[in-house]
Amino acid sequence: MAGPLGLVIAIDGVIGAGKSTAARGVAQALHYRHLDTGAMYRAVALCGIRQGVSADDHQGLANLLSQLRIQLTPLDEGGRILLNDEDVSDAIRRPEITRVVGSYADRPDVRQRLIESQRAMGAEGGIVAEGRDMSTVVFPSADLKIRMLAELDERARRRHEEFVASGVEISLEQVRQDISTRDLEDEQRDYGAQGHPRDVTDVLTDGLGIDDVIGQIVALARQRGA
Ligand code: DC
Repeated sequence: MAGPLGLVIAIDGVIGAGKSTAARGVAQALHYRHLDTGAMYRAVALCGIRQGVSADDHQGLANLLSQLRIQLTPLDEGGRILLNDEDVSDAIRRPEITRVVGSYADRPDVRQRLIESQRAMGAEGGIVAEGRDMSTVVFPSADLKIRMLAELDERARRRHEEFVASGVEISLEQVRQDISTRDLEDEQRDYGAQGHPRDVTDVLTDGLGIDDVIGQIVALARQRGA
């Protein structure tokens, strides 16, 4: 489904495998756009919290979705996320959003609305789309489908290092347990992650630095004409 702007590259994979960093790096290397779909779900959750609309308020959510405008600025303009023209890139990363975003992302009407926008953004190609349902639901005919994998211990170690670097005190075991719980929740969701299309390439990231991972994906994209 390559468009005039290039390939559609879909990246998904397990929690904490480094999908966002890899997707951004691949987009930069190929001068493609980066479609961070998790950021879009986070923007809906932020909007819900601000307007006092909970994930189980059907009518409120329908109104919210009808007024919602989400834009992602190009990477060379900072790769920011705009919610109705306001830059919410930092606000959507706050822990209170991380805690509730799953309940908004589970809503079929939210998914339907965001999937439509994601397909529109990918229609011309030249995009690296990242998120759990990219190759299974949103872009089933993507030119390159990547699933990033890493062992639980490795993911826990990396995430723990990030916490330590940012001054958060948490034990490695706690981080490991949190990721393991989220893995289980993820497996129980009935969209996205289950399907494993035959043409998905698994990239095992254990023991690899992020630049090696980006290099592998870029090489696969080049083979397909990027
Ligand atoms: O990758 P992230 O942590 O920014 O994702 C935020 C939330 O959105 C998380 O609960 C997973 C969900 N999500 C989703 O349901 N579908 C996507 N395509 C991307 C993210």
